[in-house]
Amino acid sequence: MQRTVIIYESEYGTTEKTAKYLSLILGPAIYCKTTEFKDEYKDFDFIIIGSPVYSGKFLTKITEFINENISWLNEKNIALFSISLSIKDGIENLMEIEKLMKNVVSKKALGGKLELNKLNKKDSDALKIFSKQLGMEMGDVNNFNLEDVVNYALQLKALKENLIAKYSSDDLESEIEEFLSNHNTCTLSTSFKERVRSTPIEYNYFNGYIYLLSEGGEKFANILLNNNVSLAVYEDYTTMNNLAGMQITGKASIIENKEEYREIIEKKGLNPEFIERMPVNMNILKIKIEKIEFLYSKFKKMGYEPKQILEFD
Ligand SMILES: Cc1cc2nc3c(=O)[nH]c(=O)nc-3n(C[C@H](O)[C@H](O)[C@H](O)COP(=O)(O)O)c2cc1C
Repeated sequence: MQRTVIIYESEYGTTEKTAKYLSLILGPAIYCKTTEFKDEYKDFDFIIIGSPVYSGKFLTKITEFINENISWLNEKNIALFSISLSIKDGIENLMEIEKLMKNVVSKKALGGKLELNKLNKKDSDALKIFSKQLGMEMGDVNNFNLEDVVNYALQLKALKENLIAKYSSDDLESEIEEFLSNHNTCTLSTSFKERVRSTPIEYNYFNGYIYLLSEGGEKFANILLNNNVSLAVYEDYTTMNNLAGMQITGKASIIENKEEYREIIEKKGLNPEFIERMPVNMNILKIKIEKIEFLYSKFKKMGYEPKQILEFD
């Protein structure tokens, strides 16, 4: 699996918190200050560097770290982020720091936080001078936005996943079809606002669509209001060298067309007349697959990343 290291500095914890949240979403990952950096992290696949802005500049420990480690950093894909009250200050620093490295694949200026009563004497005095220069009193400011951090982490995750050694898409498609055909039960996850639901349910896979036959239930309460769904199909865990599981993202609809309904019933090996004579409605949910993320140890044994992704049109 691609491993990520997030190297950061932080005086009052906002950059540290950001580094931690990024590591949670980008995992397997570790976040560390420049002094905690270990040589073994140089083998990691994706490097993120983050700094707060103080008096218009990134912390010197960050720039020093980059200069001292430039030779191996230039072999890596790097993402940079800043934490500051003024996004403009963040962007200006990111543009300066980017010039030091060869492969900066992403930059992001994120909002910071200022709590006057937490500042040490040195920072408090520095801020007073800064306030005088600006000609205005400084108060507490909170520009930290967790949703921005989460969205950036997801953006980086997609970017990182694009950098991997890819299995040919035709071969991946046949591996996926084989896996889906050899299994018959999935966990269907639906949601609307605060309501979430995971449903174990039998499925059939035909030509880029998943079909689910259902008498009804709470999953429909979600799907009627939000047709975005996720499905998981997986084998029981045995060892870390024998992983096989799929996360499917797609859009759900209920089949209304009678001919299509009958065709799917027949494909499932059932008799449409029998189903139609049943005393209750049987509904077919059709999931148009948009993306499959397939974690399969077999890919690793063949020299590829164990997690391969297939996007559907
Ligand atoms: C002394 C001082 C100077 C600062 N200078 C700037 C600045 O020049 N531009 C800016 O946007 N934010 C500035 N900030 C705000 C910090 O970037 C913000 O508080 C950030 O969240 C700190 O991150 P940390 O908690 O990880 O140290 C300053 C804060 C202090 C205390």
